[in-house]
Amino acid sequence: MNLLILGGNSDVAYALARLFAERAGAGIVLASRNLELLDKKAKDLEIRYNQSVRAVYFDAADTDTHREFYDSLNPKPDGVVAAFGYLGDQGRAQSDFQEAQQIIQTNFIGAVSILEIVAADFEKRGQGVIVGMGSVAGERGRQNNYIYGAAKGAFNIYLSGLRSRLSKRRVHVMTVLPGFMDTKMTRKMKLPGLLTATPEQAAADIFNAFNNSKEVVYTRWFWRWIMAVIKVIPESIFKRLSL
Ligand SMILES: NC(=O)c1ccc[n+]([C@@H]2O[C@H](COP(=O)([O-])OP(=O)(O)OC[C@H]3O[C@@H](n4cnc5c(N)ncnc54)[C@H](OP(=O)(O)O)[C@@H]3O)[C@@H](O)[C@H]2O)c1
Repeated sequence: MNLLILGGNSDVAYALARLFAERAGAGIVLASRNLELLDKKAKDLEIRYNQSVRAVYFDAADTDTHREFYDSLNPKPDGVVAAFGYLGDQGRAQSDFQEAQQIIQTNFIGAVSILEIVAADFEKRGQGVIVGMGSVAGERGRQNNYIYGAAKGAFNIYLSGLRSRLSKRRVHVMTVLPGFMDTKMTRKMKLPGLLTATPEQAAADIFNAFNNSKEVVYTRWFWRWIMAVIKVIPESIFKRLSL
């Protein structure tokens, strides 16, 4: 298979690329903005697993370039993982709309822009798998990250609708809902060890779910139950909690 990983510099995406190259013999295109770093990762994977691995420039926020980007891919992918994400700074976003806009542009608008292009191609071909990395932050608004959470929540809903539309054309859409993961995105945060996945654990969860054609996967699995509880807390109580 040919796998396109958008946001290929993400720590989880790179761990996932390793699994696909090693265990599925996939040819891989890693797409992101830091091409120098991406190139090193692609070469490393190519040598290690003897698969074709290429690095290409892609900016999720620059939606005007998405059509040309996808048209330039040859061969076309049969699997696409949207792994890019921008946590941003909630405090800054409250007073600087540009920061809020960057969060929404990267996590939602950019994702919709590129995935609609992918979806149209897969729909026409009657095959393909799309994996979108949402977040449990999109399941309930928290005071500490509600702008990022709102963008991810919109992305979760988008993926649900896309799954429904494309299921008629034998195209599968999988939503990944990570809880805490120990990656460069969360480097400055103090995360609870027991609830935090390594990039390798998260990648293994995604790879297994992909192979089992799951619709929605939480990583780690216990986040499904944590969120089930968090979602039923009444607003009148939830607003007083410092979650
Ligand atoms: N870490 C967590 O606790 C956590 C929890 C829930 C959900 N998630 C989601 O999981 C996914 C993977 O994140 P991660 O934890 O592996 O974080 P990460 O290592 O920081 O990766 C995020 C990647 O997104 C890329 N990116 C940001 N803006 C981009 C843009 N405009 N265009 C293209 N690429 C862009 C960056 O690539 P460049 O370096 O090339 O700029 C970066 O490598 C993300 O969607 C994230 O929102 C993470």
